[in-house]
Amino acid sequence: MLGIETTCDETAAAVIERRSDGGGTILSNIVHSQIEDHARFGGVVPEIAARAHVELLDGIIDRAMTEAGIDYAALSAVAAAAGPGLIGGVIVGLTTAKAIALVHDTPLIAVNHLEAHALTPRLTDALAFPYCLFLASGGHTQIVAVTGVGDYVRLGTTVDDAMGEAFDKVAKMLGLPYPGGPQVERAARSGDPARFAFPRPMLGRSDANFSLSGLKTAVRNEVGRLDRLEDRDIHDLCASFQAAVLESTADRLSVGLKLFHERFGTPQALVAAGGVAANQAIRAALQEVAEKAGTRLIIPPPALCTDNGAMIAWAGAERLALGLTDDMDAAPRARWLLDAKATVPAGFANTRAGF
Ligand code: KG4
Ligand code: ZN
Repeated sequence: MLGIETTCDETAAAVIERRSDGGGTILSNIVHSQIEDHARFGGVVPEIAARAHVELLDGIIDRAMTEAGIDYAALSAVAAAAGPGLIGGVIVGLTTAKAIALVHDTPLIAVNHLEAHALTPRLTDALAFPYCLFLASGGHTQIVAVTGVGDYVRLGTTVDDAMGEAFDKVAKMLGLPYPGGPQVERAARSGDPARFAFPRPMLGRSDANFSLSGLKTAVRNEVGRLDRLEDRDIHDLCASFQAAVLESTADRLSVGLKLFHERFGTPQALVAAGGVAANQAIRAALQEVAEKAGTRLIIPPPALCTDNGAMIAWAGAERLALGLTDDMDAAPRARWLLDAKATVPAGFANTRAGF
C-alpha cells in the first residue's frame, strides 16, 4: 500500500505491507517537513504549503517507491489523506493518488487523516480494539474511543484552541521561534512551574472536554504585566504554562478513561498521538493517568506520532482488508469529523468546539 500525506506542512509518502498475521511492515517512509518555508511567517501559510506539495510530492513518492524496492504493479491500492486539513494541500495529495490509481488500475482509498492517527498503534504494536486515544496536535485535541476500523466515538474535545496551537501561541508571545511546542518544553525545563498561578481549565468537570484559550490569555496578561522579558521570566512562564496544561490534561484524561470504561469496558491501552505526544513531561503525566486507570500507555515512536505517510498507508491497508475502497469522485475535505455523530458540547454552541 502506497500512502500519501499532504494535509498540513509535511509532504510525505510511504509504502507499507500488511502481513497475513494482521501486523504491518514499513517498507519506506519519506517525510519532508516544510518548517523552513513557513518559519519566518510564524506559522503555516496555506498557499505556500499547497505550492510546496505540488513541487515536492512526485519526487517524494518516487523515493518512497524506490526505497521500498517495488514497482507500481505490485501495489494492492493507493491511499491518500483526503482531509481534514488545509484544502490546497489535500487536493494535491488526493489528486495525485487518483492519477496513480487510474494509470496503474489499482483501487483508491481516501483516508481520514485523524483515522490514520487513530489506527497507528495497530501498525506499531498490533494493538487490539477497543482502546482510548488521546490525539493532541496543532489542529486537534480529542479523546476518542476506538472500537473498530471506522468506529470512533468522541468522548472529549477542545472547545476552543488545540493544545499544540496553545503551545505555538505562547511561544510566539514570548518571542520563541515556530513551531513553539518543543521550544516551550525546552524553556520549561529550567523554569519554576510555581511562579505564576495560571488557571487549570475545566478541572473537575464531569465531561472530558478541554479548553486552552483562557490559559493562553492568562499567559498573555502576565507577559503584559512584566516590563521586560528576561530569560528567567520566559523559562518560568513556560514552566508555569506547561504545569497548568499537564494538570488539566491529566484530569481530562482520567475523566475520559472513566467515560470509556462506562461505555466500552476496560481499554486495551491508552494511546497518545499527534505532535504534542512528543512532549516528555506530558508523556510522564499520561503514564501516571494510565496506571491509575489500570491500563497501559502506548505512544508510537515520534516519527509515527507526527504526520507521516506510513499512517495513511496503514489506514488504507486496514480499510482495504475490509473491502472499503473509494470512487474516483472522492472529495477532498477541509473538515471531516472522525466521529460523524459527535455534536458540539452543551453550552459551547458559539465556540470552535466540534472541529
Ligand atoms: O501532529 P503534528 O506534527 O501536526 C499537526 O498539527 O497535525 O503536531 C504539531 C503540533 C505543533 O503545534 C507543535 O508545537 C506541537 O505539535 N508540538 C509540541 C511538542 N512537539 C510538537 N507541543 C508540546 N511539546 C512538544 N515537545
Ligand atoms: Zn496529524
